[in-house]
Amino acid sequence: MAKFLDSISKETRKFPPKESFKKKAHIKSFAEYKKLYNESIKNPDTFWAKQAEQLDWFKKWDKVSSWNKSKLECKWFEGGKINISYNCLDRHLKERGDKPAIIWESNDGKSKVYTYKKLHKEVCKFANVLKKRGIKKGDRICFYMPMVPELAIGILACVRLGAIHSVVFGGFSPQSLQDRIDDSKAKILVTSNVNLHGKKIIPMKEAIDAVLLKCKSLKYVLVNKRKNVATSMKKGRDLWLQDELKAKDIENTCEPAKLNSEDPAFILYTSGTTGKPKGVVHTTAGYLMYTYLTFKYVFDYREEDVYWCTADIGWVTGHSYIVYGPLANGATSVMFEGIPTYPNPDRFWEIVEKYKVSIFYTAPTAIRAIARFGDEWVKKHDLSSLRLLGSVGEPINPDAWLWYHKVIGRNKCPIVDTWWQTETGGILVTPLPGAVDLKPGSACFPFFGVKTNIYKENGKPAKANEGGFIVVEKPWPGMLRTVYKNPDRFRKTYFSQFKGGIYFAGDGAKKDKEGYIWILGRIDDVVNVSGHRLGTSEIESALVSYKDVSEAAVVPYPHKIKGDALYAFVTLKKGLKGSDELVQILRKHVAKEIGPIAKPDKIQFAEGVPKTRSGKIMRRILKAIAEGKEDVGNTTTLANPEVVETLKKERV
Ligand code: WT7
Repeated sequence: MAKFLDSISKETRKFPPKESFKKKAHIKSFAEYKKLYNESIKNPDTFWAKQAEQLDWFKKWDKVSSWNKSKLECKWFEGGKINISYNCLDRHLKERGDKPAIIWESNDGKSKVYTYKKLHKEVCKFANVLKKRGIKKGDRICFYMPMVPELAIGILACVRLGAIHSVVFGGFSPQSLQDRIDDSKAKILVTSNVNLHGKKIIPMKEAIDAVLLKCKSLKYVLVNKRKNVATSMKKGRDLWLQDELKAKDIENTCEPAKLNSEDPAFILYTSGTTGKPKGVVHTTAGYLMYTYLTFKYVFDYREEDVYWCTADIGWVTGHSYIVYGPLANGATSVMFEGIPTYPNPDRFWEIVEKYKVSIFYTAPTAIRAIARFGDEWVKKHDLSSLRLLGSVGEPINPDAWLWYHKVIGRNKCPIVDTWWQTETGGILVTPLPGAVDLKPGSACFPFFGVKTNIYKENGKPAKANEGGFIVVEKPWPGMLRTVYKNPDRFRKTYFSQFKGGIYFAGDGAKKDKEGYIWILGRIDDVVNVSGHRLGTSEIESALVSYKDVSEAAVVPYPHKIKGDALYAFVTLKKGLKGSDELVQILRKHVAKEIGPIAKPDKIQFAEGVPKTRSGKIMRRILKAIAEGKEDVGNTTTLANPEVVETLKKERV
């Protein structure tokens, strides 16, 4: 196991919420947060029983929670009967039938509005199609789709029946899709003939035709007709989704299944930046409870909000905070098919203005990418509807945070920096926006019911400002229950680093003197410079705080004396060019920001760095480049494999 981290960041600025924001917030002060938090930890079952009253049950639970540490079996709301789609749709029909549930903004700027009534009807129809094709409770359905409404409708249809969905991000390779279909033995695949992506029309069905022949478990492939283009259809297996939905025998209503609290809801494969994908399993009542409650408090949700999360439903962020959390709360959720830079780099702000979005949730990688084009693109739009901003996916460096706060939030909107994982189902560490004075770069405090701690390698809690591993000491309702058909991997990955049922997240973190949590990045991304273990994200953050830099990735390469030396890949703001002089300036800048020990030995300027399709930097590949290797390993899961050759050529 990697050693604990030495944290070096010196960030100390604080941003308290405005009085006007506090006054209207669900949780209005730190004292109020602390009181509720303490209650939730001291008497979790009392706390969660009270929260669970906000959901609609066919039958209430017998037991709020149980945790068998030796079997690693955790159960929430056992004995209860409930349905996620009922809670997301049916229960809103009376009061919110005509309220938009999903506003879909297409790639080319057209939109479609699904009110709760309409969404309910479409979900029922979709569920009836699945039923007609033989789907029963417990069957697996795979989705490989662009960001179209049929994806949200389809997964809601699955949970209505108790069928288990497995969404595979539409940008993954055909091989990745096949692996995931095979692992889950999906009976139906739902896909699209094409995917519209900026100026491009990307064939989706055609690209996977060859691998589908090898997927033995598949009975049917439902094909969404995104555009009327020639598409090859295999007789008897491939069906047009639209035809299926239109069929005469497909009714507009469908009884929601009365599911057990611990019935599986979905599988979501997570590969991270290394290793074979794991099928993370989430179940019904606990997951719904957790996404419902985190959405309500973290985004300080109010009935009149228009909420937009820019993630793809192929990731857990989209599952929990485009679909389930918002809809369980009866919110209006914007869903976007396109990309942030098409037709121009102001696409996000155009959409915020168009729908008067009040809560906006995105990833640091998107923030940096857009900031790179300059503030003029933002200033063209009226963003006065925004009242709260969110960030997720990686540590947000203070500089990107400050830009987001000032330019997008006009110094008015709190930013919730939310730390969580596919495995955690929902947000674990976050500021509650009315209650916490923000510190740029800190995810702040644990959510209700989440008992986090930071451990040193020996399992002892780290002291203030001492780096370590972030853990959760007790299960929370949204925790993954297992790795699909691989309990051993579940135990090894999450519960073997520390004894006694302690959830190990794999991230480095520190807590400062005031108890604020700072996530320092994946522990695999740690470098050892002259005996100091540094998280690369802090060094990257220092580089990005220099005015000309828009993104940086730091990796180690072997050094005789220091152990590791630091190699930095630096992307400059649009229109700027690197120079030897700038290399020296940047080295000095890092020395000043965090100390000479963190000074990169080599700096390479790069137009782009290799990223996963969810926007995480693939340091494994950069490391191979920094080490001078010709073979940099598998690049098929990259969003931008083309950058690799350039980076190799321009190696310094
Ligand atoms: C990993 C989980 C969380 C849903 C999307 C990603 C990193 C995520 C933050 C944050 C610092 C963060 C962690 C985590 N991460 N949010 N606010 N600050 N790091 O889900 O693909 O399962 O990735 O993303 O390293 O372990 P995921």
